[in-house]
Amino acid sequence: MKLMHVDASPKLEWSNSRALSRDFVALLRTRLPGLEVDYLDLSLRPPAHVSREFAIATYTPAAERSEAMKAVLAESDGLCQRLLAADLLVFAMPMYNWCMPSSFKAFIDAIVRAGVTYVIDAQGNYVGQLAGKKTLFITSRGADLRPGTPFAHLDALTPALRHAFGFIGVAEPRFVDAQPMQFSDPEARAAGLERAQQELAAVAEEWTAALRAAA
Ligand SMILES: Cc1cc2nc3c(=O)[nH]c(=O)nc-3n(C[C@H](O)[C@H](O)[C@H](O)COP(=O)(O)O)c2cc1C
Repeated sequence: MKLMHVDASPKLEWSNSRALSRDFVALLRTRLPGLEVDYLDLSLRPPAHVSREFAIATYTPAAERSEAMKAVLAESDGLCQRLLAADLLVFAMPMYNWCMPSSFKAFIDAIVRAGVTYVIDAQGNYVGQLAGKKTLFITSRGADLRPGTPFAHLDALTPALRHAFGFIGVAEPRFVDAQPMQFSDPEARAAGLERAQQELAAVAEEWTAALRAAA
C-alpha cells in the first residue's frame, strides 16, 4: 500500500497544514503497518510553470515528440507516475487569496495530462486515471469559511480542487479544512484546529476500515 503525501506551505515548521498532514500520515502509519510513503514538498521544489514549449509538447502525440519535447515533459511525467503509483493521496496546503498557493497550481498544471492521467476513449468520453484512489485535501485558512459564515461564498479553493482532480478520476475526495487559523481570536483558532484534528482522526478510521475490509 502506497501513499503520496504532498505539502505546499512555505511556512515550514510554522505551518498548520503541514502539522496536520504530518500527524494524519503518522496516524495512518500506525494503523496500516508497511504503508509506504512517497513525500513531495511543493514549497521547496515547486514544479515549473507551463511554458510555451510545454504547451506544445503536451498536445503533440507521444509517438511524434522530439527528444527536446520529451525533456520538457520529463518533470510532469515523473509527477504523474508518482500519483498513478499511489493508492492513497494526501494533499495539504494553505488558502491563498481564496484559492490555492501557486506551487500547487503549478503541480495541477503538471499532472492533468492528456493520455497520461486522463484518456479519451473510442466513444469520446474523458476517463480519469486516478479513479479508486482515496484522496484527502487538508487546507488551512485564516478566515472561517464554513457554510453560513459571511466569507463562505469566497471559497474558490474547494471547488477548484474538486474539479481539477475530478477530471482525472478522483470521484469522492475528502476535505478537512482548518479554520479560522488567524491569531486575532486564539479561542476560535484552537477550536478550529481541534475540529480539524477530530475530522482527520475520523478519516483515518474510515480509510483503515475500508482498506482492511478490501484486503
Ligand atoms: C499570501 C497569503 C494569502 C492569504 N490569503 C488568505 C485568504 O484568501 N483567505 C484566508 O482565509 N486566509 C488567507 N491567508 C491565511 C492563511 O490561509 C492561513 O494563515 C493558513 O493557516 C496558512 O496555512 P499554513 O499555516 O499551512 O501555511 C493568507 C495568507 C497568506 C500568507
